[in-house]
Amino acid sequence: SSDFFADKYLQNQHWVITAGPTREAIDPVRYISNHSSGKMGYAIAHAALRAGAKVTLISGPVDIAAPTGCELIQVISAEQMHKQALTYAPQATTFVACAAVADYRVADIASEKIKKDSDVMQISLIKNHDIVADVAQLAQKPFIVGFAAETQNVEQYARGKLMRKNLDLIAANDVAKAGQGFNSNDNALTVFSAIDKIEIPLANKHIVAKQLVSLINQHYLLKHT
Ligand code: CTP
Ligand code: CA
Repeated sequence: SSDFFADKYLQNQHWVITAGPTREAIDPVRYISNHSSGKMGYAIAHAALRAGAKVTLISGPVDIAAPTGCELIQVISAEQMHKQALTYAPQATTFVACAAVADYRVADIASEKIKKDSDVMQISLIKNHDIVADVAQLAQKPFIVGFAAETQNVEQYARGKLMRKNLDLIAANDVAKAGQGFNSNDNALTVFSAIDKIEIPLANKHIVAKQLVSLINQHYLLKHT
């Protein structure tokens, strides 16, 4: 296979990647979620594996198959993803937070199916833990890459998240632009470090992932050598 000739430049690295959406239960039959397909996170996992890394993929519910050779940890809710991320991240060289984590969970999950008794109803929500920010607080912390899906002020919001969450890199995508981001097969990223700004042009998510994995490794090596 073409793998025989691939450069295994990540041979001694362990990547932990979060991917997909999370689901926040309302009652036994309903949930709150988002349009994340998991394609970008799974493409990053695939590219890191091809480059020789050990890969742990912590994934919310998606319709796609995990790449062969990765360790797949399946979760449903944001709090489950948080727990698994904090379990695996201390052993990782690199942590990539690609998941579209629900920002809030339902305060009181109904134990029985909610009936349509009233014309108006309200659901109280509580903020979930910030997974990537908590990984960045670990004493034993990996090289950390976040994502930022924005519809406006992309650079300003992405740089804000980079600094506030104490990340090494953040990959921003403008989800308001047609043909990229949530659920699309293509993506374009602008990757920010504290000092750099690198554009990865619009292409299939597998091509973008390959370039992003190489870019992450370059910055990882800069920090560790
Ligand atoms: N993230 C996370 N845990 C959360 C929320 C977000 O790990 N509870 C991660 C995402 O995986 C992504 C980054 O934080 O890598 C930014 O997510 P985003 O939704 O863009 O930012 P938020 O901090 O949630 O802010 P907002 O949604 O208000 O823009
Ligand atoms: Ca969010």
